[in-house]
Amino acid sequence: MNIVITGASQGIGFETVKSLCTDSEHKIIALSRNKDQLEVLRKECLAINANCHVYPIAFDLQDREKYSLLYRDVIEVFKSVDILVNNAGYLSTTPFDEVTSEEIEKIFDINVYSVVRLIQLLKPLMGKEGHSHIVNIGSMGGYQGSSKFPGLSIYSASKSALHTLTECMAEEFKEDNIAVNCLALGGVNTEMLAKAFPSFDTGVSAEEMGKYISEFISVKKVLFNGKVLPVSNSTP
Ligand SMILES: NC(=O)c1ccc[n+]([C@@H]2O[C@H](COP(=O)([O-])OP(=O)(O)OC[C@H]3O[C@@H](n4cnc5c(N)ncnc54)[C@H](OP(=O)(O)O)[C@@H]3O)[C@@H](O)[C@H]2O)c1
Repeated sequence: MNIVITGASQGIGFETVKSLCTDSEHKIIALSRNKDQLEVLRKECLAINANCHVYPIAFDLQDREKYSLLYRDVIEVFKSVDILVNNAGYLSTTPFDEVTSEEIEKIFDINVYSVVRLIQLLKPLMGKEGHSHIVNIGSMGGYQGSSKFPGLSIYSASKSALHTLTECMAEEFKEDNIAVNCLALGGVNTEMLAKAFPSFDTGVSAEEMGKYISEFISVKKVLFNGKVLPVSNSTP
């Protein structure tokens, strides 16, 4: 399968690519800003499977002007996309009373607007050669009825927006042979989690979650659409 995954330079995205690369049939575009880390990822993947196909693309999802260049880079690797995993994310812990418009804009730009931009960019490459699947990485923080935490209002609201966007896009893309689902993750031990909950151990490693996401997206036929699935055995 031809797969694009964002936020691949560290944490959950990094580990998802490492798990996906064990299948030599997959061609994987690993996207994020940190070029050096993407190269570390590529080398680690080759050490796992010498026949793997991992293509790093260093790109800042906030760089609106450069999306046409990104499109060019993607179609150099493959002409159709089977799976797009919108995993890149940004979290800030500034209390609500102090959070600035710039910070709100940044959180929503990375967690929501860039997802819209990337889907608009790659949708013409999806659904043509069989069924395609867009998997958004949401959060239990944005899941209705879950525990909420001070300092995470804007981040959680951005993830709620992503959840609703998932449900609505699934409806809009029904005729396009593209399924859209969202995994609302609970806590996973990564740098992002350490920022929000220093020294908290969730009991779930990035490697375990990466393997879970890799297996989730690797199924040949997706039997659901427009779903926000909680992937959590505890909160946060
Ligand atoms: N860890 C948790 O407990 C948890 C819980 C619920 C949901 N999630 C969600 O899971 C996803 C992955 O989280 P994580 O814990 O692995 O986070 P992380 O370790 O902070 O990694 C975030 C990734 O996003 C990329 N990224 C951020 N801004 C970007 C930009 N402007 N352009 C391109 N890439 C960008 C980063 O790469 P560069 O810096 O190289 O660009 C990095 O690879 C996020 O969407 C997060 O909200 C995590």
